Amino acid sequence: MTAALPGAQPGAQPAQPDSATGSQPAPGRGAATPVVARTRDELREARARLDDGDVAVVMTMGALHQGHATLIRQARAAHRHVVVTIFLNPLQFGPKEDLSRYPRTFDADLEICTQAGVDLVFAPTPDVVYPEGDPGVRISAGPLGDVLEGQARPGHFDGMLTVVAKLMHLTRCSAAYFGQKDAQQLLLIRRMCRDLDFPVRVVAVPTVREPDGLAMSSRNTYLTPSDRETALCLSAALRAGAAAAAEGPSAVRRAARAVLVREPLALVDYLVLVHPDTLEDVPEWYRGEALLAVAGRVGTTRLIDNLPVLVGPGGGALETFAQP
Ligand code: PAJ
Repeated sequence: MTAALPGAQPGAQPAQPDSATGSQPAPGRGAATPVVARTRDELREARARLDDGDVAVVMTMGALHQGHATLIRQARAAHRHVVVTIFLNPLQFGPKEDLSRYPRTFDADLEICTQAGVDLVFAPTPDVVYPEGDPGVRISAGPLGDVLEGQARPGHFDGMLTVVAKLMHLTRCSAAYFGQKDAQQLLLIRRMCRDLDFPVRVVAVPTVREPDGLAMSSRNTYLTPSDRETALCLSAALRAGAAAAAEGPSAVRRAARAVLVREPLALVDYLVLVHPDTLEDVPEWYRGEALLAVAGRVGTTRLIDNLPVLVGPGGGALETFAQP
């Protein structure tokens, strides 16, 4: 690529020649700024310069943080090419949700992508992704999309899966990296790829947390300092629940709930211990892997968190968890 693509953001450089041949500079050491594609034509042109067969994608809505950066670095370590998409997808936001106030930090996002060694950033506007307006045909999440987050956010998962499907087609990726932080989203994307035969390997990355345990999220920027203190009860509840995992499901739920009731400023929407594949509550006799998930409102912000746990003898958290 010899010229900056039209529509590239300030700060976006044309790709260095070595990017066209696929050899990447080491991340963090003078890494080249990724090519930025804004339109379908720009994406097609830039994507054609990457080898087929080993392109990983990390899809995001921007406002990148170290959680996103971890996904990118893991993709970078395992694949020849990494594409990051930055697209605030209107289809997955409800009419009363935070689409208009969602943080937009493109220049900082591009810097994170540069440091992490991304080849190509696809950052379209809604009219590029949905040239004919809202699509009449959408992916249906089915019953797994109606529970937990889906109950609180009707239509959210259909909108999310629809854009993920489109971005998989547009980027022609062979692998896609998603965070365990959004466990229900990850499960639904896996199901979509399996049920609809998408030739994409879905890779899960454990939740990245602040040192005090708060799960990283673009929405954490909405929290006031006191909201942030309150929000710690969510991860603390998960940790307490996991510590009781050897005793069985009701002990897990009881221990987690005991933490949440001590924090009346967190308005808990749900706290569940569910099977990781069906999202159904696990019965008391259940032993094995389960998902302890919580959602609640702190101040004006809805937060979610979860922890995979092993229930039964020798049980506990299945993800390492930074201690405060
Ligand atoms: P977004 O919230 O920007 O998240 C992008 C990806 O980063 C998702 O796979 C999410 O699970 C992951 N992620 C976010 N916080 C994380 C953390 N603390 N640790 C590990 N991974 C984390 O999720 C979406 O965007 C959208 O729904 C999208 C998939 C892009 C479709 O629009």
